[in-house]
Amino acid sequence: MPVPSVITIDGPAGAGKSTLGELLARRLGYLFFDTGVMYRALAWAVLRSAIDPEDGEAVAALAHNLDIQVLPPGDATDGRPYTVLVDGVDVTWELRHPNVERIVSITARHPAARDIMRAQQRAIGCRGRVVMVGRDIGSVVMPDAPLKIYLDASLDERARRRTHEIQRRGGSADLQHVLNDIIRRDSLDRHVSAPAADACVIFSDGLSPEQVVALVIDRIDDGVGDSQDTSAYERAKNPDSART
Ligand code: DC
Repeated sequence: MPVPSVITIDGPAGAGKSTLGELLARRLGYLFFDTGVMYRALAWAVLRSAIDPEDGEAVAALAHNLDIQVLPPGDATDGRPYTVLVDGVDVTWELRHPNVERIVSITARHPAARDIMRAQQRAIGCRGRVVMVGRDIGSVVMPDAPLKIYLDASLDERARRRTHEIQRRGGSADLQHVLNDIIRRDSLDRHVSAPAADACVIFSDGLSPEQVVALVIDRIDDGVGDSQDTSAYERAKNPDSART
């Protein structure tokens, strides 16, 4: 099949979506668009404005007036995959701050705010030549995307990867602590996660990032085929069964 102009990658926290998205986008010469940063940017703005993260109306009003730009990294030499500006302020690294982590799942949950974020995401997706990463991209934001991936991994594997990632960036991370945080986020993100029924499911335990990219390229070469492991999709719909 021709290379799909929009590729969506959804899945739970720590499954490797961003790594896959970045590698795939680089390989295809596409834009890499991590939609999670928009919700993080909104959470950052909620903190800046000191409004109540639970107040859906206030969060939506803020989202409505917010200028979020996700740009290529340009000349930055600090390893950033993109630059995020909120009302012109570079917040790229602040979006990873624990205070943002703490409230992002709450602010991302408000339907009116989500509608605003989704419309902006759709506008970028419709330009084509883009790999979009998130939770609801294949099902809600870009339901007509020709190739949808649902990337999953076991809880233990996700925690291990996240721990290594934090340590690689120079931070300190305790595996059990990270695991507990992923369980907490899975339960909060359940409200916003909507795997597309027609997504190709890739369960990435034991696979390197390059091997996962190769699987996706195979899908493109073969046409969109069956999922590698449909039970992962079932788990995504029913996260309580994920911890076995
Ligand atoms: O992928 P991430 O950890 O950067 O996502 C941050 C938050 O945004 C997380 O709570 C899930 C939410 N999110 C969402 O609701 N919809 C998306 N398309 C992407 C992320």
